[in-house]
Amino acid sequence: MSENTVAPLPHVAIQVFSETSHVVAVVEEAASDRRMAKVHLRIQAGGVAAAVEAYRDAPTPNVIVIETTSDSRMLLEHLDELAAYCDEGTRVVVIGHVNDVPLYRELMRRGVSEYLVAPINVLGFIQALSEIFSSPTAKPVGRLIAVVGAKGGVGSSTIAHNLASTIATNLEVETVCVDLDLPFGTVGLDFNQDPPQGIMEAAFDPDRVDANMIERLLSKCTPRLQLMAAPSSLDRIYDFGDQTFEPVTDALRQTVPAIVFDVPHLWTGWSRNVLVRADEIVVVASPDLANLRNAKNLIDTLTLARPHDPKPRLVLNQVGVPKRPEISSAEFSKALDSPPLATFAFDPNLFGTANNNGQMIAEVQPKSKAQESFLDMAKVLMSRQEAKSAKKSILSALREKLGNRGGKSKAA
Ligand SMILES: Nc1ncnc2c1ncn2[C@@H]1O[C@H](COP(=O)(O)OP(=O)(O)O)[C@@H](O)[C@H]1O
Ligand SMILES: [Mg+2]
Repeated sequence: MSENTVAPLPHVAIQVFSETSHVVAVVEEAASDRRMAKVHLRIQAGGVAAAVEAYRDAPTPNVIVIETTSDSRMLLEHLDELAAYCDEGTRVVVIGHVNDVPLYRELMRRGVSEYLVAPINVLGFIQALSEIFSSPTAKPVGRLIAVVGAKGGVGSSTIAHNLASTIATNLEVETVCVDLDLPFGTVGLDFNQDPPQGIMEAAFDPDRVDANMIERLLSKCTPRLQLMAAPSSLDRIYDFGDQTFEPVTDALRQTVPAIVFDVPHLWTGWSRNVLVRADEIVVVASPDLANLRNAKNLIDTLTLARPHDPKPRLVLNQVGVPKRPEISSAEFSKALDSPPLATFAFDPNLFGTANNNGQMIAEVQPKSKAQESFLDMAKVLMSRQEAKSAKKSILSALREKLGNRGGKSKAA
């Protein structure tokens, strides 16, 4: 194995559950390797049972590595339970101490990415992780959420930025917030940063965009949040081809787990294409008639253009402006054939303070209803909560049943 054939890992989170000092030593040495520079790597003692405990109520990282010294039946039982708590896209690697072909087959059948037999070496370990993301059949690591307003000024940028910040801080997922409003974007202002105009180079030189260039265009905002800011100047004219943002989108998807696009309120070839190619679309609307019409047109058109993807989600913002007649949430839901993913009250004090100070809502009022809604949105859009609570309820019901019969209430 040549050292240069091992591709550097993307900006992913990896949690190792170890049972022996040998694996601890290998993982600790791997952590300082250059190919692991972008990885958030954590190690914790305890095998698969510890992993089950850890993720019963918490989001799972991109990769869970489990060392096991227990027999294969126990391992498989625990892995089945763990699978119920795993978020979509989480990969599992098992390090065992026996070269057991039937076990290997069982693990592969369950979707385990790799089975390594100890003793393992540092480069072999890194390579196994690297191949999860770099093999030709690997699914891109990134999930792209595009946020767009049904009208200008409805707060779509505010929601995009707070959503990105919440995914990074609360879900602990490495996130990039990309400002596609090149002439007027507010990413820099909203995060109180003066980042380089990352998106500009990608927009004017799309053919040169690749993984290395992406790293150069990102600027760190918080430990897990990076920005790709807009120039926000009128020195140039911003006419783009339909496909201008495809290379930057694809390159980001290869390397960052969560990508939030702040898409300006436009309907051009490129803006339509950016929306159509997203994993999730959020349409932000205020409760008036033009917003209702535009939101309906956007959601209907985009649903038709991507029949095999999730339907665009509606978010109502600036609801309850004093003395303003409004269209009710119920009427919106009826016209759009789905309830809003989140509703934000008009709160000029909270949003105005955040705006003026270049702060996120979580910094101004972490316990506010608005911040709770950003967290709910983040979980759904990163496909966290829904699946987990449904699966959990089946398991906890089972456990309660066992508990009532005098059995153990908790799986060992
Ligand atoms: N729920 C809200 N209550 C009060 N003001 C809000 C709310 N949401 C956003 N705003 C304010 O509305 C203004 C426009 O927001 P912005 O995110 O730039 O809109 P857009 O990107 O849709 O044009 C900003 O000053 C922002 O602080
Ligand atoms: Mg905007």
